[in-house]
Amino acid sequence: MKIAVCGKGGVGKTTISGLLCRSLGSKGISVLAIDGDPNPNLALTLGIDPKATMPKALTSKLLEVYEKDDGKKYAKLNAPLSEVMDNYGVKTNDNVTLLAVGQPEHAGTGCMCGIHTTVREIIHTALEESEQVTLLDLEASLEQMKRGTSKYVDVLLCVVEPYYRSMEAVARFQRLGKELEIKNIVAVANKVKNAEDEEAIRQFCLQTNLPVIAVIPYDATIAEADKTGSLDINAIDGSPALLAINQLANDLLETVKA
Ligand SMILES: Nc1ncnc2c1ncn2[C@@H]1O[C@H](COP(=O)(O)OP(=O)(O)OP(=O)(O)O)[C@@H](O)[C@H]1O
Ligand SMILES: [Mg+2]
Repeated sequence: MKIAVCGKGGVGKTTISGLLCRSLGSKGISVLAIDGDPNPNLALTLGIDPKATMPKALTSKLLEVYEKDDGKKYAKLNAPLSEVMDNYGVKTNDNVTLLAVGQPEHAGTGCMCGIHTTVREIIHTALEESEQVTLLDLEASLEQMKRGTSKYVDVLLCVVEPYYRSMEAVARFQRLGKELEIKNIVAVANKVKNAEDEEAIRQFCLQTNLPVIAVIPYDATIAEADKTGSLDINAIDGSPALLAINQLANDLLETVKA
């Protein structure tokens, strides 16, 4: 199963991505987590201590460009995925390996082209080569999706908070997801404080035909635990948000056909 997590800035993409990976990993499933944000944070929600170890940024040097019979240029990884994971990744105690895209390669230009192609090829290779779950935590902009980074995923989780701009953003992600022909595009409601919040999200999603696959409550323990840096799973043990994310992990395993 290949999952991409999208949504407006600050809605909780990285929190949900990290906890979802840990939940899946703790079931004995090996998980490849890719931090697609040039300002990486996924390490923290995966419980990695950034002072101890961080993943090495993926670079376009990992790509080999070749030409096909149609005369067009294509790119593929020049090393096996397992090697890339060993050399560039960080492994956690919960069966998760983290890879990160890092900063733009050309200082000053902000150009991420090489990185987007590298990430796309890694997902493509992960799809072909492995049985593991791959999760991609996207940046808040639509940029990566426009570049087709998410083309090879089979589920797009659109994280949405109960306020209009967040819901409107999700509708844009949904449209792009459809253009990329992603099979399962679903909403995850986050930071839901009450029945009205949930209803607002459900109404909006009903209009855009977007199934709501999970409702994660606003949970002060998560926000509090997040303040300390690396997210300690013991500090949020039994918290309502974590329970909802564990449920989401089970539902994804049951419902998503890769
Ligand atoms: N269910 C929740 N209850 C309470 N706080 C939450 C919940 N989910 C996320 N948060 C908090 O919201 C903040 C933003 O979360 P996070 O960094 O995961 O968002 P994001 O969408 O990845 O942001 P960005 O767009 O900057 O990458 C964090 O402080 C996090 O602790
Ligand atoms: Mg984030």
